[in-house]
Amino acid sequence: MSAPTLRLAPLLDGLKAAGEDTRLRLLALIADGELTVSELTDILGQSQPRISRHLKLLAEAGLVERFREASWVFYRRSADTPGAALTDALLGLMAPDDEILQRDRERLAAVRAARAAGAQAYFRAHAHEWDAIRRLHAPDEQVEAAILAALGPEPIGALLDLGTGTGRILELFAHRIERGVGIDLSADMLAVARANLERAGARNCTVRQGDIYGLALPRDTFDVVILHQVLHFLDDVPRALKEAGRVLKPGGRLLVVDFAPHDLEFLREQHAHRRLGFSSEAMEGWLAHSGFETLSHIALAPGSAAGQALTVSLWLARDPRSPGAAATDTTPAGSEDRKEVA
Ligand SMILES: C[S@@+](CC[C@H](N)C(=O)[O-])C[C@H]1O[C@@H](n2cnc3c(N)ncnc32)[C@H](O)[C@@H]1O
Repeated sequence: MSAPTLRLAPLLDGLKAAGEDTRLRLLALIADGELTVSELTDILGQSQPRISRHLKLLAEAGLVERFREASWVFYRRSADTPGAALTDALLGLMAPDDEILQRDRERLAAVRAARAAGAQAYFRAHAHEWDAIRRLHAPDEQVEAAILAALGPEPIGALLDLGTGTGRILELFAHRIERGVGIDLSADMLAVARANLERAGARNCTVRQGDIYGLALPRDTFDVVILHQVLHFLDDVPRALKEAGRVLKPGGRLLVVDFAPHDLEFLREQHAHRRLGFSSEAMEGWLAHSGFETLSHIALAPGSAAGQALTVSLWLARDPRSPGAAATDTTPAGSEDRKEVA
């Protein structure tokens, strides 16, 4: 396929917008995932009005996209504008070992780590009441019936529950699977999960501490991967989906269960949410980009929740490779620099 080309006018507009120190650095940062103005301000150490002005110029030239979710404004790399081709070309020319870009990436990692630490502090504090918190916005019975229906009645071999928390999804499937593995960053949530699984007699299920972004698990291992009410806590959804895809067997299925877009801003401030739900368009775009084929999407009308009811969406997707077409590499990605606690 030939490289995309640009007409002179958008090319010049794009070059003018990108041709400045801070704006080139912004492009490099945004290429790494969706970021808010205040995160970009922290990383670059410049005033918010200054960063907003630069972002506005990049957005006007079609090099980045701006979207609002309640009071937060996010920026992401443009996908379908002529400017996207220019952004790709510029990013391809940036030396990964450039000192300024490296420093920016380190600051980005620090900003993300601080946010993840905040979310983990939340789960540490709320591990014992998480099951009740989950029911505040959607009744478990309705959501769980939809999850079971989405995956159908056939037995499942190996199931992976990412962000397993208190292990509820493993408990739900224990009698229908050969084996289940739950992964979570939070030792406190996992302690509750272990107690719950033991009480339920789910001896075919284990939980381990690990990071969704870098699973110490071999590729092509699981028949089904579930992400239940997890993605809205993460700052890089496509990265999480790609990692889920890596450990799915050819033809394996991924079930994502999360909120539809909403405007309950307090969930960010008080409950560590990063994203206020996901549109079908956004999720299906990420699934396609991460190599999945979406099989179905259903939205459950808000039921009678204990608190403020929200719409829950279920996306079922599959690995498009034919079953049995496994790759030969069984090394866990990056296992050399990750540890997993059984
Ligand atoms: C809202 S809870 C959902 C738990 C469970 N899936 C449920 O629906 O009850 C989200 C879980 O994701 C975990 N989590 C967040 N970021 C993670 C990451 N990067 N890797 C692994 N687990 C993560 C949190 O520790 C938390 O237990």
